[in-house]
Amino acid sequence: MNDAETRFETLAVHGGEPRPAPDGSVVFPIYQGTVFESALGSSVDDVRYIRLGTNPTQCHLHGRLAALEGAEAAVATASGMAAITGVLHSALSAGDHLIAAGTFYGGTYRFLAEQAERLGWTFDLVDPVDADTWTKALRPSTKAFLVESITNPLIRVGDLEGVARFARSHGLTSIIDNTFATPVNFRPHSVGFDLVCHSATKALNGHSDIAAGAVTGSERRIEEVASVLSAYGGSLDPHAAFLLARGLKTLALRVRAQNANALAVAEFLASHERVAHVSHPGLASHPDHERAAALFDGFGSVLSFRPVGGVGAAEALVKSLRLPYAASSLGGVESLVTRPAAGGHTGPGAAEAEGVDEDLIRFSAGIEATEDLLADFAQALEG
Ligand SMILES: Cc1ncc(COP(=O)(O)O)c(C=O)c1O
Repeated sequence: MNDAETRFETLAVHGGEPRPAPDGSVVFPIYQGTVFESALGSSVDDVRYIRLGTNPTQCHLHGRLAALEGAEAAVATASGMAAITGVLHSALSAGDHLIAAGTFYGGTYRFLAEQAERLGWTFDLVDPVDADTWTKALRPSTKAFLVESITNPLIRVGDLEGVARFARSHGLTSIIDNTFATPVNFRPHSVGFDLVCHSATKALNGHSDIAAGAVTGSERRIEEVASVLSAYGGSLDPHAAFLLARGLKTLALRVRAQNANALAVAEFLASHERVAHVSHPGLASHPDHERAAALFDGFGSVLSFRPVGGVGAAEALVKSLRLPYAASSLGGVESLVTRPAAGGHTGPGAAEAEGVDEDLIRFSAGIEATEDLLADFAQALEG
């Protein structure tokens, strides 16, 4: 199969699948074993060991992830944070500087705020939509540029093509966290990003039942990330790898349903008199709408909004919703709702950022019937 010419729905089912699979199985099996025999005298590169990510079920998943992101290679990790920290460790050495754009997932910000100094790294936070801030942050020691495809929780879409170009022209490794957009909506390697990482705990797996991460890139860069992961011990357990490979089969269907639900809810909220503000890049009123429409095939499952009436109204609304769980993750088949300023996932970067106020509500659309979600929001807003 020529992956480059295949539509995403087909790629999600068949991309990177060995044909035939072992024993002719339609589903690639779980090899739970930790170690595999290798020929005497073979090199260390031929060692197949679970922590090295070279167990066959792990390798199968790597091929699937690479196919979906349109990359040469991929490596799966024990969590999204293992993917981000693995990538940063592969790109930065002591004395190096990182440019990081956006309000950021709290865990990523916390890692930088708490660990960068002891690792000898420095970093500057810049505005993903304002290239002047990138130029001002650039130093001779700058080695990498980190951005999120859709920022969390303010739901902004930065000048992603500009970031990849800027990084290339200054010899920086460009890194993007594509968790919010997913490869269904946006494939960052196609605009020149060197490394793409994911919390596969979210939409890639989609069923809120494993922790996992993924990194894609060139063979050389993935070898470097894999070597960091094996040194720190961050590979993905084969059973979770199997579940993630299974989740990927329905990725296109799930994400397209989530895109549609999120857009419908965003439009409904935007027209409701008890809602003060809605942020979703699918709305024509969103400041990044045109850029997102040009870059993305869909606008993602997440939106944030503020009800009229401040924090009291926001708390009451979250309690009144019957379908979404009040939980702070995203990307699963079930809708979730959270107040980022009150949730554990908000780090100092987001908490201090302009706009992440107490009354901000984040909604992650699941795959429920659109009419049921709209009816639920209607009753909660009336209450
Ligand atoms: C955008 C983003 N990146 C990374 C992570 C970290 O992922 P994990 O919880 O799988 O470590 C999260 C978690 O919420 C996230 O939202």
